[in-house]
Amino acid sequence: MTSDPQETSNLEQSYKTLHNLMESILDSSLDGIILVDEEGKIRLVNQVFKRLYGFENCDLVGMDILNFQSSACCCFRQPEESQKFFKEIFALGDPVIRRELDLTQPVRKVISFYARPVVDREGKILGRISIHTDVTVERNLQAEMREAQTQLIQSEKMASLGMLVAGIAHEINTPIGSINSNNDILVRAVGKMRDFLNCAHCPSEVANDPEVVKIMGILEEINRNNRLACDRIITIIRNLKNFARLDEAERKQVNIHEGLDSTLTLVQHQLKTRIQVIKEYGELPEIECFPNQLNQVFMNLFVNAGQAMPDQGTLSIKTFRQGQYAKIVISDTGIGIPSENLSKIFDPGFTTKGVGVGTGLGLSICLKIIQDHHGRIDVESEVGKGTTFTVTLPIQNKGA
Ligand SMILES: Nc1ncnc2c1ncn2[C@@H]1O[C@H](COP(=O)(O)OP(=O)(O)OP(=O)(O)O)[C@@H](O)[C@H]1O
Ligand SMILES: [Mg+2]
Repeated sequence: MTSDPQETSNLEQSYKTLHNLMESILDSSLDGIILVDEEGKIRLVNQVFKRLYGFENCDLVGMDILNFQSSACCCFRQPEESQKFFKEIFALGDPVIRRELDLTQPVRKVISFYARPVVDREGKILGRISIHTDVTVERNLQAEMREAQTQLIQSEKMASLGMLVAGIAHEINTPIGSINSNNDILVRAVGKMRDFLNCAHCPSEVANDPEVVKIMGILEEINRNNRLACDRIITIIRNLKNFARLDEAERKQVNIHEGLDSTLTLVQHQLKTRIQVIKEYGELPEIECFPNQLNQVFMNLFVNAGQAMPDQGTLSIKTFRQGQYAKIVISDTGIGIPSENLSKIFDPGFTTKGVGVGTGLGLSICLKIIQDHHGRIDVESEVGKGTTFTVTLPIQNKGA
């Protein structure tokens, strides 16, 4: 300590210069920096920190962070939020804290920060310093990459599902073909046997023998059942092939109703008997499209409708022509979509179905496919009443 006024003024001058130098150093940093002393007073804060959190118009130095009253200028919506934030930076109990903050106001930004104690040579804690970095760009890039990755996985999954379905259909086709033709032979043979039993020179004790009557009844019944079973398998195979349509990876003129029907057959087991399906198909010309992709759209919409009706309900499919457009209207009487979710349902990853049930990609893929077809997809919904998706497709598709 000195009592010489000249010396005191020189010392003050040096402190001021040092302080200014410190401030310039801190302000040249790309990260936000704030130093809080052991009593909770803000001692140093640089411009980047103020900019990051929207405190440009506040003089933070000297403020007590434990009783911090944020002004309207900061990014925190509630005064309690900013108070909590400053208290956390001052949480001297932890040696180091690391956090990431997702701020939404005035624009969304993600800030990563860490805070650590400042100790003197004797190990006494003097305060806490924290460094704050804007990582919004990195986080957005990471989110975009994740999204692109899931889209890719999903479309690869659909492509391999298509190949699998086509492969299975092909494999079943040959054996069922032979069962079907053997069945035809059997039907004809049993028919001839019946003709013989009915003819004049068949001894009546043979024709009317109870054992013969019983066996003939069984044979004819089995043949009828086999015929129905074969027809059903053949229809399923046709639908599987129709769904996969790997041979039609190009743009084609197709009958939309065939696509709707075959896709419906494939999801039938999910709708079971609890859901009544009402079809109201209007007059539609063949539409130029990628049929396998449109079938994916129908599939996603049917599955969503089925999942929205956990008990009973009605799925209605209506089609009609409106000028140069085909309209496909798919409605359910399910749980509906709350209005605050309506703008989010087409976002990749948005799902209300819990882990393992939905990936939230269904509708985003539908939207992409329909946009690629120069069409549009609209939704209307009322909670507790149901949901209607309307797909609008140009009948003549120009361009890509
Ligand atoms: N018909 C509907 N009724 C009620 N809510 C629906 C209906 N269709 C979609 N949703 C809502 O939209 C969300 C997003 O649907 P989307 O098809 O994109 O994903 P998901 O069905 O959840 O999962 P994924 O299709 O990947 O299995 C659903 O989680 C649901 O909340
Ligand atoms: Mg879905």
